[in-house]
Amino acid sequence: MTLQTIDTKPYEGQKPGTSGLRKKVKVFQQPHYLANFVQSIFNALGGMTGKTLVVGGDGRYYNREAIQIILKMAAANGVSRVLVGRNGLLSTPAASAVIRKYRTTGGIVLSASHNPGGPDEDFGIKYNIGNGGPAPEKITDAIFAETKTISNYNILDWPDIDLATLGDKLVGDMAVDVIDPVADYQELMQTLFDFRAIRSLFASGFRLRFDAMSAATGPYARAILEGALGAPAGTVVNGEPLEDFGHHHPDPNPVHAKALFDLMYGPDAPDMGAASDGDGDRNIVLGKALYVAPSDSLAALAANAHLAPGYRTGLKGIARSMPTSGAADRVAAKLGIPAFETPTGWKFFGNLLDADMATICGEESAGTGSNHVREKDGLWAVLLWLNIIAARGQNIPAIMREHWQTYGRNYYSRHDYEVLDTTLANDLMAALRGKLSSLVGQNFRGETVAGADDFAYTDPVDGSVSSGQGLRIVFESGSRIVIRLSGTGTEGATLRVYLERYEPAGGNLGMETQEALATMIALADELAEITSRTGRSEPSVVS
Ligand code: G1P
Ligand code: ZN
Repeated sequence: MTLQTIDTKPYEGQKPGTSGLRKKVKVFQQPHYLANFVQSIFNALGGMTGKTLVVGGDGRYYNREAIQIILKMAAANGVSRVLVGRNGLLSTPAASAVIRKYRTTGGIVLSASHNPGGPDEDFGIKYNIGNGGPAPEKITDAIFAETKTISNYNILDWPDIDLATLGDKLVGDMAVDVIDPVADYQELMQTLFDFRAIRSLFASGFRLRFDAMSAATGPYARAILEGALGAPAGTVVNGEPLEDFGHHHPDPNPVHAKALFDLMYGPDAPDMGAASDGDGDRNIVLGKALYVAPSDSLAALAANAHLAPGYRTGLKGIARSMPTSGAADRVAAKLGIPAFETPTGWKFFGNLLDADMATICGEESAGTGSNHVREKDGLWAVLLWLNIIAARGQNIPAIMREHWQTYGRNYYSRHDYEVLDTTLANDLMAALRGKLSSLVGQNFRGETVAGADDFAYTDPVDGSVSSGQGLRIVFESGSRIVIRLSGTGTEGATLRVYLERYEPAGGNLGMETQEALATMIALADELAEITSRTGRSEPSVVS
């Protein structure tokens, strides 16, 4: 065993984005690239002597190689113990659960979420803190600063360890415990949901299709849905995690989960359809011929959460990211609890959850979760839906219809323009930012602008300020347009346009979403000059 100190030079651009550092695999495979970032994490944490870590990832290409490097570096930096998922696998919510249960110092999660995998595709790495959640900006900024000055890193000369068998191993003096990636997570789910009621639901013939998209959730969904809950074999499809996700994007949206959408809108639709993403933190839910917009799913889950044992005593508050629709705010108002509006990215929910100010959180980007972990959690949302369906004895379309009749409906859609030239996208944003204040009071297509700004957030717990979080234009009617650039893409820039229109209870609640939003769609194009600046007449993805 030799401890090696390897000389290195900084790489440019190792700045963590919305959710860690995401780059092409080929970028990560450059000499010392991954090691530089890992050592920068360790340096930013003030050294690792005696600390403990969880390490795992979504199983994508380069996951296992990266884990072997991280283990040897952790050992060389003085880490005392690491928990690793078998075969290097841990869904993001399971990693969060394991960090919390075993009270480790933190964890390193390897994932590029819903981005494609494979030798020419994406890889990612992020650090989670001891509460199980993504490191806050204070820490990611410190990591980035370290990447800019790094001159060497520590690594142990030690053979790769066997990640395929469970149990205790050694890397130098460091203990490595290869754990079952599902067990701790499943145990947690059993404390939150009425498994007996869900078992009876399946026993009575309720049909679910869960598409794991050949990604991390497969083993979890099989063990919990088909195992513990008795759903028929075949309920989980694409349940085997593959390094390249079977050449698909593991992104549960209408484009990449097309087979599921086709099934749910077809003649033999089961009662419920669901899918999760590469690392298992996202979810979508569909009823027969009804896609539940994630913003609506958040609202419906919050309104009905008390039906699940883990939330029987009620919610402390509901938090949503700023671009997420205001549907959840209406539920919070009715429940008499606070509603929080945070910037995009799960890390902004951490303080609210830790302070017990919010219990349920969500993002329009297919993310919902609660205080049980500090990440969004795809399978959790599916289980909560199942629990609610079982308790109410109603199917999803009926539950959503009643929800809208109670709260009104926030028609909502996101239009993404992917792989834009970065300069062009920045120019578009700058131009719109520059004219925001002049829009207020003006009328466009019958809609008067009530307010327009670049969203800034002051964390109510620690007072930290995050600015430049998205341009929003709010109309007197309550309709809204939000425009921001993605912070997770690895190729060019992605422009996200979020469109919302509120229809009160008693109004027209059954419209087709894009039709309901037609005025907002036209206005977004007009105000942000999308077509003229990008040359694109259509978004790449509508969700
Ligand atoms: C996207 C989503 C955001 C989510 C993040 C990580 O970030 O919009 O809600 O938290 O992925 O899953 P973006 O690419 O928009 O920065
Ligand atoms: Zn994800």
